[in-house]
Amino acid sequence: MRNTIDHIRLEDGDRSLVILDQSLLPGKKEYVKLTGAPEMFRAIQTLQVRGAPAIGIFTGFALYVLARRSDAADAEALCREAERNADYLVSSRPTAVNLSWAARRIVRAARSAAPEGREAVLSKMQEESQAILDEDIAMCTAISEYGLSLLSDGCGVLTHCNAGPIATSRYGTAIGPMILGRERGYQFHVYADETRPLLQGARLTCWELSNAGVDVTLICDNMASMVMKQGKVQFCFVGCDRIAANGDTANKIGTSGVAILANYYKIPFFVLGPSSTVDLATPDGSAIRIELRDGEEIRSKWYKEPMAPECVPCYNPAFDVTDHRLISGIITEKGICRPPYSESLRRLSRE
Ligand code: MRU
Repeated sequence: MRNTIDHIRLEDGDRSLVILDQSLLPGKKEYVKLTGAPEMFRAIQTLQVRGAPAIGIFTGFALYVLARRSDAADAEALCREAERNADYLVSSRPTAVNLSWAARRIVRAARSAAPEGREAVLSKMQEESQAILDEDIAMCTAISEYGLSLLSDGCGVLTHCNAGPIATSRYGTAIGPMILGRERGYQFHVYADETRPLLQGARLTCWELSNAGVDVTLICDNMASMVMKQGKVQFCFVGCDRIAANGDTANKIGTSGVAILANYYKIPFFVLGPSSTVDLATPDGSAIRIELRDGEEIRSKWYKEPMAPECVPCYNPAFDVTDHRLISGIITEKGICRPPYSESLRRLSRE
């Protein structure tokens, strides 16, 4: 039986991919149906689908849907088309490793079935995209359990951006422990950074946590220091888009600032993410490509009128890299990695 999720699902006999449009939340809960590669590319680029693991799950199903709709005559042509589609989708956003990781997995699976013919390629792509989703559900549940094991009932947790169910499959990563804990009768006080400029914290984390009955308070990004100083939070939990071999971690812009503050106030700072986000081929954070986005997201996106003179350029990096020395632990589905990360992450990838 298929283990489906509401925000990324197949329809029309696997010829369409339906996603919850995250760019419209929390005001509108709308689903969009995608059938072609350009609209799938745009869905990633415009953050209709976002969050590293969700982008990976989406990419798996997207490549499968495109293959289902293809009129490529034989298995070889179908595989070549899948490779082209994979390269195209991978070029939509550079930072989250899950995108290229999922694309490579699907292409490899397709190629492995090619000797058995066209139908075998399609069913292998279906199987592999489903496996990416099923594994993510299991990984998020395990990550949430490990994260929950650190928390005591009633404690305060600060989070940045959105690493919840809609950024993954179920539970999420960084806010998974609090959602799982709530199901078990615990209550935590989550402080959600609004996360300028695209407000994933305000729009998505607050929406998900309040829907799950978790006590959440929204703060502006520049209030984190105050909240920490006042003793309102005992932990910082954040997600990740790519973890380099030495533990340097790319996540939403502003995350490294949170880590620096947490370090100053001696508050444990944890990164939570599936092992698919660990990229041992990237030696350290300096090798992670950071996505630069349109400055209008800062100047005018949320306002009736532009909030800065047109002549002023806006610098809009979408991610930053947190130095591994600021990270107390990296929580994956296989357990909690501790420093030195160059050793613990390598061990993790061998398990
Ligand atoms: O630009 P976004 O919204 O895709 O950025 C998302 C993040 O930075 C998340 O924290 C990260 O992908 C982890 S999601 C479990």
